[in-house]
Amino acid sequence: MHHRWLLLLACFWVVFMLMVASKFITLTMKDPEGFGVKTGSLTVLPEIEKVTVTEKKLQIEPQPTAKPLKDVLRTEHIHMERLELLRDMCQNESFGNLSRSAVSKFVLDRIFVSDKKKILFCQTPKVGNTQWKKVLIVLNGAFPSIEEIPENIVHDHEKNGLPRLSSYTEPEIHERLNSYFKFFIVRDPFERLISAYKDKFVHNPRFEPWYKHDIAPVIIRKYRKDRRETKGGLQFQDFVRYLGDPNHRFLDLQFGDHIIHWVTYVELCAPCEINYNVVGHHETLEEDAPYILREAGIDRLVSYPTIPPGITTYNKSKVEHYFSKVSKRDIKRLYARFEGDFKLFGYKEPTFLF
Ligand SMILES: *[C@@H]1O[C@H](CO)[C@@H](O)[C@H](O)[C@H]1NC(C)=O
Ligand SMILES: *[C@@H]1O[C@H](CO)[C@@H](O)[C@H](O)[C@H]1NC(C)=O
Ligand SMILES: *[C@@H]1O[C@H](CO)[C@@H](O)[C@H](O)[C@H]1NC(C)=O
Repeated sequence: MHHRWLLLLACFWVVFMLMVASKFITLTMKDPEGFGVKTGSLTVLPEIEKVTVTEKKLQIEPQPTAKPLKDVLRTEHIHMERLELLRDMCQNESFGNLSRSAVSKFVLDRIFVSDKKKILFCQTPKVGNTQWKKVLIVLNGAFPSIEEIPENIVHDHEKNGLPRLSSYTEPEIHERLNSYFKFFIVRDPFERLISAYKDKFVHNPRFEPWYKHDIAPVIIRKYRKDRRETKGGLQFQDFVRYLGDPNHRFLDLQFGDHIIHWVTYVELCAPCEINYNVVGHHETLEEDAPYILREAGIDRLVSYPTIPPGITTYNKSKVEHYFSKVSKRDIKRLYARFEGDFKLFGYKEPTFLF
């Protein structure tokens, strides 16, 4: 008899401890930033069950709870400010032509379409665009995953199922511009030009011989100061003199679409004429890529490929190094042409170069 009472007492004690423990677990599992609020509707359930449900919920929906609310709000705030700045600058009359660009066939050629997910992406070369194209190719269904897209297909728009906006009829273009999610990526304008110069005229990793063989000699002939110096290929200072020439259009026409690697973002994407939803920055791609996927409503379908550490950071000493051989006059001319790209997207005037 005495033993039974003791056993019963022990049982009560165990149950009591379990209840206390479960309460404690539930409290600690609630996200301090408020993501656990969803479990509030479950309070009618017994304590023990509540714990298991909360656990399941966390396992099933890891996505939105992955980032602290504080960071999500901060990212959202930054992007709102960027769009505000862009709108203010677009309306600023004193900019005039620096922000103006017609929504021409050239611009429509730069914009890629995902009809399945209602997304438009304007391509700005040298800013990690290949990765975004891969994301959209997968979304459009031509390949099941980013890893399975052959490298030579990414830029072959006959075969990769990623059409250009220019391939649609005029009403179809308007409908897409008005209703789809639209975005593009920018980076420091001068760093982008250095990257274009290195990629096309120095290393040329994609084996595109026309940059060195056809385009470089034309620029050298017109812009090299010391014409007797013909060795060594295109120098960065030749390139800058061409870009900063107010009459650069004369050569641009000869070079065709290859100029996409060095014309302004304004010319590529018409950011004052097209109402973009997000402008990503290469320098903050680690936060911007997931933000874009979230805003476009595709964060559960695809993810942006892993970003190698350090490649997105602005490198001031590199910019200084490349511009050290360029005359102040030519740098100022270059800036005058790219001022729109600096001001519209909040990049600081590189006064250390002037
Ligand atoms: C317009 O742009 C000019 C030149 O950059 C600048 O000085 C001025 O403050 C801008 N005005 C507004 C309203 O932002
Ligand atoms: C703006 O562009 C128009 C036509 O393209 C040109 O006539 C005008 O001189 C330009 N204005 C400025 C301030 O550059
Ligand atoms: C910046 O660029 C210079 C010159 O290209 C390079 O030596 C240096 O490692 C770079 N720094 C970083 C932090 O990437």
